Amino acid sequence: MSNTRKRKHGGLTQDGETRIKVERSLSSSDSDEELSSPSYASFLHGDRKPVYSDVVWKQMEKMGYKAGESLGKTGLGNKQFSVTKNQGNDSEDEVLNNASQPESVYSDFAQRQMESMGFQQGGGLGRFGQGRADIIEASQQRGRRGLGFRVEGFDDKDFTWEEEEEVVIVEPKVCIPSCPRPPPTKEEMEDWIRIGKKKLTIDDEAQFCSEEVLAEVLKSKTVFDALSGDEFLKARTRANPYEFIRGAIFQNRAAMKMANMDSAFDFMFTSPKDDKGRDLIGPNDLLYFADLCAGPGGFSEYVLWRKGWQAKGFGFTLRGDNDFKLEEFLAGTPETFEPHYGVHDDGDIYNEDNLVEFRRHVLELTDDKGVHFVMADGGFSVEGQENIQEILSKQLYLCQFLCAVSILRTGGHFVCKLFDLFTSFSVGLVYLMYRIFDEVYIFKPVTSRPANSERYVVCKGLRPNIQDVLEHMFNTNVRINKMKNQDIDDVMEIVPLHILLEDEEFSSYMVDSNDRIGKVQANSLKKLRAYVQDTTLMGHYDQGEVKKRCLETWKIPEKARAAPKNPDPDVKFDELWKGVDDDHCFDSEPTTLTSKNIQNLKCLYNYKCFVSGGERWFFMGLGRSNIYKWDGKPNYRSSTRWHKLENFHLELPRDTLIEVEIVQELRGEGKGQRRSAAVHIVDAVILGGKDVRNSHYSERMAKAGLLVKAVNKPTCQGMVPLRLKHIFRVDSTSLKEIFTSRIDMKVVKGKSREPRECFMLEDGRHLLPKGIFFIKRIQEPWTYAHSRSAKRLYFFNKDTNESVFESPRDSAASFKSSLGTRYFWPWEADESEKGEENRVDRERLIEFFTTAQNNFLSGPPRK
Ligand SMILES: C[S@@+](CC[C@H](N)C(=O)[O-])C[C@H]1O[C@@H](n2cnc3c(N)ncnc32)[C@H](O)[C@@H]1O
Repeated sequence: MSNTRKRKHGGLTQDGETRIKVERSLSSSDSDEELSSPSYASFLHGDRKPVYSDVVWKQMEKMGYKAGESLGKTGLGNKQFSVTKNQGNDSEDEVLNNASQPESVYSDFAQRQMESMGFQQGGGLGRFGQGRADIIEASQQRGRRGLGFRVEGFDDKDFTWEEEEEVVIVEPKVCIPSCPRPPPTKEEMEDWIRIGKKKLTIDDEAQFCSEEVLAEVLKSKTVFDALSGDEFLKARTRANPYEFIRGAIFQNRAAMKMANMDSAFDFMFTSPKDDKGRDLIGPNDLLYFADLCAGPGGFSEYVLWRKGWQAKGFGFTLRGDNDFKLEEFLAGTPETFEPHYGVHDDGDIYNEDNLVEFRRHVLELTDDKGVHFVMADGGFSVEGQENIQEILSKQLYLCQFLCAVSILRTGGHFVCKLFDLFTSFSVGLVYLMYRIFDEVYIFKPVTSRPANSERYVVCKGLRPNIQDVLEHMFNTNVRINKMKNQDIDDVMEIVPLHILLEDEEFSSYMVDSNDRIGKVQANSLKKLRAYVQDTTLMGHYDQGEVKKRCLETWKIPEKARAAPKNPDPDVKFDELWKGVDDDHCFDSEPTTLTSKNIQNLKCLYNYKCFVSGGERWFFMGLGRSNIYKWDGKPNYRSSTRWHKLENFHLELPRDTLIEVEIVQELRGEGKGQRRSAAVHIVDAVILGGKDVRNSHYSERMAKAGLLVKAVNKPTCQGMVPLRLKHIFRVDSTSLKEIFTSRIDMKVVKGKSREPRECFMLEDGRHLLPKGIFFIKRIQEPWTYAHSRSAKRLYFFNKDTNESVFESPRDSAASFKSSLGTRYFWPWEADESEKGEENRVDRERLIEFFTTAQNNFLSGPPRK
């Protein structure tokens, strides 16, 4: 084989456009460049001289033989005594046939001369007939293929790959024209499912692509079916311009595919917008997503890297070797990612019960709304059966679509990996998406290798009223599962073929898309083949530059992947607390409420309160379960204040500093009572790197509430739940709630038989109350006042007499100031306080706040 290469452009275009254009062709005419390469030359021609003895050489030269020529009378015949690669249009088989009869190529004269020198037919050419008697074949063994192993069709050199390759950075994306019809109803879909004989061939599936493309793709894939790993990988590394991108800062290449697609679709996944272009996810919202068939989790690592802990992910994947590897989420925040494996705990998406349970769980944790987007990337090995990958994957396609639609909120987006889309079953699934989403694209990102069948269906904006479609898909899956055992019949269509074909806009899109992707794929496979055959072939693009441009476009930093460092906790605390601020506030004790100081709370709306029921700690999260605790007391003997939280399965994103109570929560009563630890957040300084220390107390707690929603993983066994403390207003209504509707008398296991007052939390949980903390939420000189005319609270500045309704910036009591000004009312007086005249008993407390509230609300109008 010999090649000519034409290069029109190489490297990035001068104007720095987003495409790098390379044109190249490989024909069957000779090229010096190709032949000059030592490795390829020896592969092509074998060694030139070693098999003849000196005597034979001399005699042969006498007979007119010149080195490099053939041994035939006129220099025809086999040039090297070894089988060479075909250089013209001859097929390799012909050359091999000739080579098997070497005696026929010598002239009679040469034959006689050689015999006179003692050469005998069948002997070696050495002086004594020694040496190898048969033809030496050029080695065809490459990579790890077994010796003598040949790949049918692969070594055929007579092919062309007309490459017009553009190193595109921003891919064009073409949308299926939006479907004008509403989602199909149950009635419409009644007879849509068609059952037929199970079919494991694909070569006649040309309804949605041209016959030539189908044949080309299947032929090219067949050639690769039997190819071994090493030679193929090396060729691919050179042949694919995007190969240097790899996983960048993430655990795998898959993550980069998601980064690529997110960018290609204007970050609609990680920064969804409403139809007016406004952000759908506000600063106090979580971005909910699901990642299906998703192990080890590169997609999610990308999303969590982009959004941090304010994205909450639900993962579903098969258990086993490809399970999630959360320890590899170095770039993202695994703390807010919850793997789920369904009711059978195997993560099999085909299983109906698993699907139902996963849906229930996701809806429960998203306030019944569902997630903002779903990614699905299912696949399994189809080694040796690449041509029918689509058929083998049909249930995977179906179940990913079904699961996604079942947990997606209206307006949400969906992206799912598919392979070939030749059969009416797969096209029917895309059709269903076309009917229930506003926009649907078949998209192949540049990070998806051009030589494979992979592509993604990207669906934007789930429409309402899709319940019937969901049911249709669910029932189809039930039928497939039922038919699995008999292995004779199968669901051939989920939407009748005639409906698909009748929708001309839809079906011609599918044909165009298949033809476009198929042509590129067939050509890329040929290119790869040329690269395998010729190990010196190199693309005329700078792969480093291609990587740089891609990362820039996708907004991914070009730096090495690295595990974050685990700092010393005391050093880290100084860094988080910022060093400039004194940290004595952590040590401040609350003031016990007495009949004297209770007057300080007469502006009762300046405070909030909560019922305490556990030990107070400060927690510092350094990522996952790397959590340190401190009781706030200075340690004068050593600089070590923070100690590792041991035997406590909890996760916090790194750079988190919160104040908590570790509480023993109770369920039931008496002997059957269950006790379990929980962590209640009562205030926050930094939440996963977000500094909230100077925000208003309600904002700090609202943000902490988001964190709680994000990190809790109810299905992860043994995890200690993180909760937000229930915060009450300080007024008579709240106090009534605390002391009456929230109190239940229960026998507490391990205590006396007498029922005790328990403070009821949600879901039947309760705790033994220790007291009530009053937290100041407003900063001097500001105070709350009440406008009788406007019937609302406003802010009054005691120094300037300024009155405003909107919360002034400097009115918020920071973390530090509210920590230093707390009051505490103990639930039960301890022995020393009993009979103490300053003690405020419960009745007195209620009475005080009732009076204070009346006075406050009917006080002199200030505004
Ligand atoms: C290509 S990998 C996904 C890679 C992933 N997106 C990432 O970013 O790391 C395909 C995944 O599909 C999963 N899978 C295959 N069949 C499945 C099934 N029936 N149920 C659930 N997951 C399945 C595999 O176990 C594998 O984890």
